[in-house]
Amino acid sequence: MESFLHITFTWLHVVGVALWVGPQVFLAVAWGPASRQIEDLPTRVAAMRTMTRRFGYLGGSGLALILIAGTYLVFTWRDYYAIPGDVEFTSLRFGAWFIVKMNVLILMLLVVGLHIAWAGPKQLRLYEAKARGEAVDEAALRRARAVSMTLSLLGLVLSLAIMVMGVMIGTPGWSLQDL
Ligand code: HEM
Repeated sequence: MESFLHITFTWLHVVGVALWVGPQVFLAVAWGPASRQIEDLPTRVAAMRTMTRRFGYLGGSGLALILIAGTYLVFTWRDYYAIPGDVEFTSLRFGAWFIVKMNVLILMLLVVGLHIAWAGPKQLRLYEAKARGEAVDEAALRRARAVSMTLSLLGLVLSLAIMVMGVMIGTPGWSLQDL
């Protein structure tokens, strides 16, 4: 039963990662170049809104799955790997790298939060003003796009780094050794 639950929650964790990381790669690789081919600006902006909203649904549910399943995995870790109660969490590679992973996760959430709450809406507002035919500072628009792209890339790189750390701690032959 324990193995069944471990496999199920690891699977849910990985499905969450796929939903979180997959659309980020897709947006960068496919949506960016595709959107620039939509010459009618109001249509492009409307499509942008739909894409980012749908990304929010997918990525948000991915993140929720990651957090729920990850919490289960870390709370059952000691029993699952039969680690005696007197072995300190941080005396093993597992504990130390788990803490590093959580710190990088906080950093990633900060970067994503900045993107969602500040850089993304600012860029959309400028595009919407331009689509309405208002005079828009082109340099400001370029800056907003550069900031938004930098935050996206940084969020993706941090997600990939967290995945490496997840795989490291999920490899017991390596992670259950003393630091
Ligand atoms: C609250 C946040 C999180 C917690 C508590 C958590 C916890 C864990 C734990 C305990 C494991 C090891 C499972 C084992 O013993 O086999 C693990 C594995 C993993 N984690 Fe996380 N994690 C979190 C967030 C994330 C995030 C944000 C990502 C990626 C973006 C991620 C990617 C992975 C991957 C790829 C694995 C390896 C799965 C495998 O063994 O195949 N985790 N996580």
